[in-house]
Amino acid sequence: MSALSADDSKRLAAAKAAELVRDGMRLGLGTGSTAKHFVDFIGEKVRAGMKLLCVPTSEATRAQAAALGIPLTTLDETPELDLTVDGADEFDPQMRLIKGGGGALLREKIVAAASARMVVITDSSKKVDTLGRFPLPIEVVPFGLEATRRRIEKVASATGCRGSLSLRQGQDGKPFLTDGGHFILDGSFGRIPDPEPLAAALTAIPGVVEHGLFLGLAKAVIVADAAGVDIIGDLG
Ligand code: 5RP
Repeated sequence: MSALSADDSKRLAAAKAAELVRDGMRLGLGTGSTAKHFVDFIGEKVRAGMKLLCVPTSEATRAQAAALGIPLTTLDETPELDLTVDGADEFDPQMRLIKGGGGALLREKIVAAASARMVVITDSSKKVDTLGRFPLPIEVVPFGLEATRRRIEKVASATGCRGSLSLRQGQDGKPFLTDGGHFILDGSFGRIPDPEPLAAALTAIPGVVEHGLFLGLAKAVIVADAAGVDIIGDLG
């Protein structure tokens, strides 16, 4: 087995996903270091003359795509997409995901839900048997933060998740702000034994904008490491 860095693996997974892209497609472009490779491949395809129309899932991805000359649209102009390719912080054998490590979970989920297919690209370090090793990002409105935090703690505990909720900090030492102007609470639960009831309970809390559990959205996960590329699910 040759040495392959995590970033090489991410690039390999992104290259495999780029093979799914056909002329005329409407694409969702994910966010993060893995999705960044995919956006680079899309830039190459556009330069080579492929006609694509893309919706970015963050301002960071928008800036990268615009710099590469990728034609961009919005979900208002193009409400249905053919394919979204995005990274993940964790995935389990049922292709349930934790996303939001980069803080783009809200737009990522909206774009994935507007797509006929979501394909996840990742290196093998993101694979888990049970979700929850990666802290679960929960996007909340700043108003009423402490009240919302307590309600999240209660519903998490009721669904078997115990652990601290910490307010994500930005590099400036102030609370991290998402592209939508919200805060993120990261739930260090260790294990999320039952993601579906937790997801439903979080969604029902006033003040919670979105959470990083992506359930039933991914149609396939492309996992790369030094051993090669593995496909979970159905790429078609
Ligand atoms: C951003 C995300 C990313 O997809 C996730 O954090 C994975 O990032 P990376 O590809 O850098 O490991 O959900 O909100």
